[in-house]
Amino acid sequence: MNTVNNDPRIVVALDYANPQDALALARRLDPAICRLKVGKELFTAAGPQLVQALIDRGYDIFLDLKFHDIPTTVGKACEAASRLGVWMLNVHASGGSDMMQAARDGVERSGRTPLLIAVTVLTSMNQQTLNQIGVAGDLRSQVLNLARMTRQSGLDGVVCSAQEASMLRAEIGPGFCLVTPGIRPASASLDDQSRVVTPAQAIANGADYLVIGRPITQAENPLSALQAIHQELQLR
Ligand code: C5P
Repeated sequence: MNTVNNDPRIVVALDYANPQDALALARRLDPAICRLKVGKELFTAAGPQLVQALIDRGYDIFLDLKFHDIPTTVGKACEAASRLGVWMLNVHASGGSDMMQAARDGVERSGRTPLLIAVTVLTSMNQQTLNQIGVAGDLRSQVLNLARMTRQSGLDGVVCSAQEASMLRAEIGPGFCLVTPGIRPASASLDDQSRVVTPAQAIANGADYLVIGRPITQAENPLSALQAIHQELQLR
């Protein structure tokens, strides 16, 4: 695996409702060994100003807004997000190939080079909820179909469960970025995640980046928790 210090594999999810809490955690962590994810709640509350403040502290930011709209709108949203100077951003693959290509074009127009990835099937969905929205095929095939479409649309990778990572790595091959949430160190609480894997197992399954929230954010000492996971990955 790539252990170069300037490419940290751990992306800490800043699932906070306000910028004060987010910045307080950022001050306690270390940009040399992690990146940060800003999602819908925090971005809606704190906006581009917070993203800039985190970048100023030396962090790479994954802006997790999962855009899903008509192609023109998504293209412009991706252009605006890229101009913020984020490291990674994402859209929903189920928006279709035209939408994803518009996203790619939007990123290109920004003149920046963030990674552009897609969500395939939300891990909160199961076979039944997939059928409800009119998808007749099985869930794993849907994940694979959307991942293939993502690659063909010129995007850099997908968000997927660590359990899907080995299948996607085998089917899609190298050079396609796999970002996996649902990570729990062996000793940590599961919280509301049900299908979890350890950090080392996720990397072994082919994941490139691991999104980790509560095992770090809720730890008594978040930096120690981060360092322990970082160490576990370095030893592989
Ligand atoms: O605290 P925890 O490690 O469960 O946080 C995981 C983060 O990854 C949260 O921000 C959650 O919204 C996000 N996520 C997820 N499952 C997905 C996609 C994103 O848990 N399929």
